[in-house]
Amino acid sequence: MPGDYRLYTDLADWWPLISPPEEYTEEAAHLAAVFGSAVPPVREVLDLGSGGGHVAAHLKGRFALTLVDASEEMLSVSRRLNPECAHIRGDMRTIRLGRTFDAVLAHDAIDYMTGEDDLRQVIETAFAHCRPGGLAAFVPDYTAETFSPASGSGGGGRDAAGRQASFREWTWDPDPGDDWIQSEYEFVLHAADGTVQVVREAHRLGAFRRSTWLRLLADAGFDPQPGPGGEAASRPGSGAAPGPGPGSGARLRGHLFLGRRPSG
Ligand SMILES: C[S@@+](CC[C@H](N)C(=O)[O-])C[C@H]1O[C@@H](n2cnc3c(N)ncnc32)[C@H](O)[C@@H]1O
Repeated sequence: MPGDYRLYTDLADWWPLISPPEEYTEEAAHLAAVFGSAVPPVREVLDLGSGGGHVAAHLKGRFALTLVDASEEMLSVSRRLNPECAHIRGDMRTIRLGRTFDAVLAHDAIDYMTGEDDLRQVIETAFAHCRPGGLAAFVPDYTAETFSPASGSGGGGRDAAGRQASFREWTWDPDPGDDWIQSEYEFVLHAADGTVQVVREAHRLGAFRRSTWLRLLADAGFDPQPGPGGEAASRPGSGAAPGPGPGSGARLRGHLFLGRRPSG
């Protein structure tokens, strides 16, 4: 749960420096192309696990977004960036808003589902909020088939207050027999007053088999759809070459699983 991770609680204010909105430009363009080419057209989108709203920031000019996250601290970060979007605190496994959307997105927050029951619940949430004929898009960073151990670094930049953040990441699989892998992070956070703190924390992240994804989508009632250009490739550093987007040159860092709710 996000409450278990400092990154999404007391460190949430560092999110825009650790994972800056610009890093999401390309994959948001890919998602916009997917939603933009849907028939009937997508206008209203529910983003489950919207975090700091960095994907949303690139989509909000084109779609009306409702953003859901379990962390009040992350919602606060997103409200500053996306004041025009609706923000709602909730658990993506259980939230029920009592209305539907043209499309439902669960981007990298879906990684925090580490067991099949939790993943099933999120897919059911997406189905409950997808109008008949609507589209659901899930973008996990990892699948069991494509995962390979990796290390890398990222973050950076400086904000107006003079703060700076960077991180290193090691990702490995403690047990290939289960559905999750582990990312060990080391965040280096330079405060505006010159003090530096180094924070280490391990995140458990889902890496389900493709067959599990397709089965759970079908169980929930979705017609699994091939993503335009097929499933895109993994994050930089995972060893897989990034796949091309649908004509826009944009690409995803993760994998795209699409489901359409039947119209009937
Ligand atoms: C990597 S961040 C998402 C970043 C986001 N894509 C963005 O554009 O800023 C992961 C988010 O998932 C949220 N999260 C994790 N488990 C959740 C759950 N069960 N329900 C809702 N949000 C959850 C965390 O609070 C965190 O904000």
